[in-house]
Formats: sequence, C-alpha cells, structure tokens
Amino acid sequence: MALANVNAEKTYLNRPKALGITVRRLQFNPKKIKRHYFANSPLMSHLLTALSSTFPIGEQYFVNSVRNVRDKVQEPQLQAQIAAFIGQEAMHSKAHTEFNDAWRKEDYNLDRFQAWLAKRDDALRNIHPKLQLALTCAFEHFTAMLGGYILKHPEILSTLDDDAMKLWVWHAIEEIEHRSVAFDVYQEVYGDDRIRRLLMRSVTTGFASLTFYATSRLIWQDKWKSLPKVGGNLFGMYLLGKMLIQLIPEYLSYYQTDFHPAKHDYTKLVNYWKARMADEYSMVSFQEEKVSKLYS
Ligand SMILES: [Fe+2]
Ligand SMILES: [Fe+2]
Repeated sequence: MALANVNAEKTYLNRPKALGITVRRLQFNPKKIKRHYFANSPLMSHLLTALSSTFPIGEQYFVNSVRNVRDKVQEPQLQAQIAAFIGQEAMHSKAHTEFNDAWRKEDYNLDRFQAWLAKRDDALRNIHPKLQLALTCAFEHFTAMLGGYILKHPEILSTLDDDAMKLWVWHAIEEIEHRSVAFDVYQEVYGDDRIRRLLMRSVTTGFASLTFYATSRLIWQDKWKSLPKVGGNLFGMYLLGKMLIQLIPEYLSYYQTDFHPAKHDYTKLVNYWKARMADEYSMVSFQEEKVSKLYS
C-alpha cells in the first residue's frame, strides 16, 4: 500500500467519532398508516402530517445552514457531531418523503403546499449565513422540545399505528440526540446571543403560522371525514392545548443568556425508548445498537 494511503487511513482512524448521535436507517411501511392515525383525532393527525410535509425542505435547509459555515469550525469533535447531524437529517428527509408520498392519494394534495414552501425556502437561503444558522438553532429547539414531549407521554403515543409510532419515535429520539449541534456551531462561529434570541421570536410566529396554515389545508381537504369526528377533534384540541401550556417553561429557557440545549437532560427518556424500539417494535437499527453496546 502506498505511504500516502497508509497515512490517509491513519488520519481517518484517528478522527473523533460523534458522541451520542447515531445515524439509523428507518424501516417502516407508511402505506399501512391509517388516515386518522393519532388518537383517532383528525386534528392531531393532520397536524403531524402537516409537520411532516415541511420536513424534507426544512431539514435540508437546516443541513445547508450548518454546511455554510462548516469550514470555520476548528474543533474536530464538533466536526464529527456535524457529520452525524447531517446523516440523521438526511435520513429524516428520506423517511418523511416516503411518508408524504403515501399521503399523495385520493383527496390529499401536498404538492401545492410544498411548492409554496419551496419558494419561501429559496428566499431564506439568500439571507446572511449567520441568520440562517440562528434560524436553524431556533427550529432545533422546537424539534427537540416537541420530540421530548411526545416521548414523555407514552399514553398519547400508544394511540398511534405501529408504523406511525416507529417514524415519530425514531425521529424524536434523533432530534434529541443532535439538539446541540447547530447551537454549538453557532456559538463557535458567531456567538451572537442577541441575534440568536431575536431570531427565536421570528421563528415562533413563522412556525406557528406555517403549521396552522398547513394543518388547516389538510383538514379542509379531508373535511367530510374530519369534521364529523367531533369527539376526536375535541380530544385533539385538549391534547394540543395541554402540550402548549406544559412546554412554555422549556420554550422560554431559550431566551436565557446561559441557555444550552444539553441543559435539558433526556438521557433516561431516550434510553427507555431506544430499548422499547429494539425489543417491542423489533427495529433493526436499535437492536444493532444494543448489541454493539454489549460488546464495546
Ligand atoms: Fe430531523
Ligand atoms: Fe434536527
């Protein structure tokens, strides 16, 4: 073997590995997921589907905002975390594209909404890289917070079909795992706390209106089957209201000057769900992880 190749291999082997972030492949069948898959509530089901329809474009945006400044990151460990973050988000985009494709049927139309979103995405890719990254940090706070919330409420999750459960629990676990990456990159490259907090305000109103708009569109498209389910919708409103109220303290923590995503400790929660995904839901990626831990 040429000397240059040996050296390249040594450098590769010496590279730090990502800590606490595992890129997993999801095996699920989105076609098996029933129409009102969340607590038999059209409202909650359409809300989740609306979120899903934003993920392929949104998560690609998050990845790009980190890639924009990746060469400014000196810390080798953080470089490894970035690589794992990109790997996880790429898998999420793929899985949610499969999920969204399964919904392009009968009376659902996600294409017009996604075309509208793509135009906004184009505009947001032209803002300063610092603002793009600050936007990502704010969104990542939301995804980790929402992921943490659903994992803390197994009674809600238990109403989901198995395939829907696999998708949302897998995504929630990984959002929690990589919740600090964009934040750490932002701190190392810019560290401008005022802009970070300021952008959270814009993201909050933008995210809330986007979700409301996308959910309303889906409910409207499905109105004949959605609206008669009064009980399911009232229950959905109750769940949503309760969640929003309970999340206020965690949401507000983002505005603290000493905020760091890792301050919210989800270790036990994530370990609990990883074990359930491996044992109860027979998810191969979680089973492999369990085995590799046993032998490490
Ligand atoms: Fe994601
Ligand atoms: Fe994420």
